[in-house]
Amino acid sequence: MVTYRGWIVTLRGRHCTRRWRETAVDADGRVVNNVWTMAQKLTDKKLAVLGTGKLGGILLRAYLKQGLFSPKRVTATVKHAEKAAALAKELGVGVSTENRKAVHGADIVLLGVKPQVVGEVLKEIAPELGEKTLVISVAASVPTNYIEQHVGANVPVVRAMPNTCSAVGCGMTGICRGTHAGAEHLETARAMFDAVGRTVVVDEKNMDAVTGLSASGPAFAYIILESFAEAGVKVGLPRDVSTLLAAQMMKGAASVVLETGDHPALLKDAVTTPAGCTIDGILELEEGKLRVTLIKAVVKATHRAGELLFEK
Ligand SMILES: NC(=O)c1ccc[n+]([C@@H]2O[C@H](COP(=O)([O-])OP(=O)(O)OC[C@H]3O[C@@H](n4cnc5c(N)ncnc54)[C@H](OP(=O)(O)O)[C@@H]3O)[C@@H](O)[C@H]2O)c1
Repeated sequence: MVTYRGWIVTLRGRHCTRRWRETAVDADGRVVNNVWTMAQKLTDKKLAVLGTGKLGGILLRAYLKQGLFSPKRVTATVKHAEKAAALAKELGVGVSTENRKAVHGADIVLLGVKPQVVGEVLKEIAPELGEKTLVISVAASVPTNYIEQHVGANVPVVRAMPNTCSAVGCGMTGICRGTHAGAEHLETARAMFDAVGRTVVVDEKNMDAVTGLSASGPAFAYIILESFAEAGVKVGLPRDVSTLLAAQMMKGAASVVLETGDHPALLKDAVTTPAGCTIDGILELEEGKLRVTLIKAVVKATHRAGELLFEK
């Protein structure tokens, strides 16, 4: 057995198997959703979604569609009254602009407002929170101890960083727990994010990195995908065919990594025939510094993720 760039590689004769090396960051990663088993426990919980914008809306729509929460036990809020009325009509749940009222009696509060608004919303709802209320925040840059300071004693807090691919059940979410949250709170949060994709438990110190990689990442991936589609057009393909080829190819490549556990470098080698066409393309990528550019993009986004809370 050897390790190769963070992977465990087992060599048996000519056969070589690889699996992720377990790390402290991903001690409990799961491939199989546990939505069904947790669903029974969550339908009797009262959920309040505060800040039902792009991300809050994606999550709430998924929960209602899957029956993870019962509509009569869900309340939601937004900033603008007209948006509240439109959402209430669309979702069939109570939507208002009154955070404190929405949180009254809630078992789970899902905080989906912008980082700069988190403080004022927490101040508003703090009197309604206690040790039996689980607060789950998806706000980038906002640490669990900031939330704990605003909500008072012993309130369990889970910080989460999902992405917009949750809209089609292909989300990736990193979660970590605050001082007063136990394993059961993490499990509840995990069930809520497994419902829209995969969930990984990380140390809080890694949450900005999760933000820079998998939360900002879809934007980077769309640019890469769009570039592949442009490339297809350049070499003569109709745009719709080109976009389909590019998107399905990227989905396929990602699926192979996830399903086989094979190292991406070894998979790349398998596509690269000696003196074939792929190696010529790879040379162009290396000359264009694709790797270093992507690494720098994630590093920048990660640093930026640490700054948002402190801006007005
Ligand atoms: N978008 C992403 O890819 C992504 C990924 C991971 C995490 N996040 C995090 O998710 C959070 C929301 O991001 P988003 O992209 O969904 O933003 P968004 O679409 O602007 O949603 C924010 C929502 O908060 C509402 N709001 C503003 N002030 C409020 C208040 N005082 N009380 C209640 N609701 C209030 C807004 O209401 P109106 O609609 O009436 O203006 C809006 O619906 C951010 O903290 C972000 O860091 C986003």
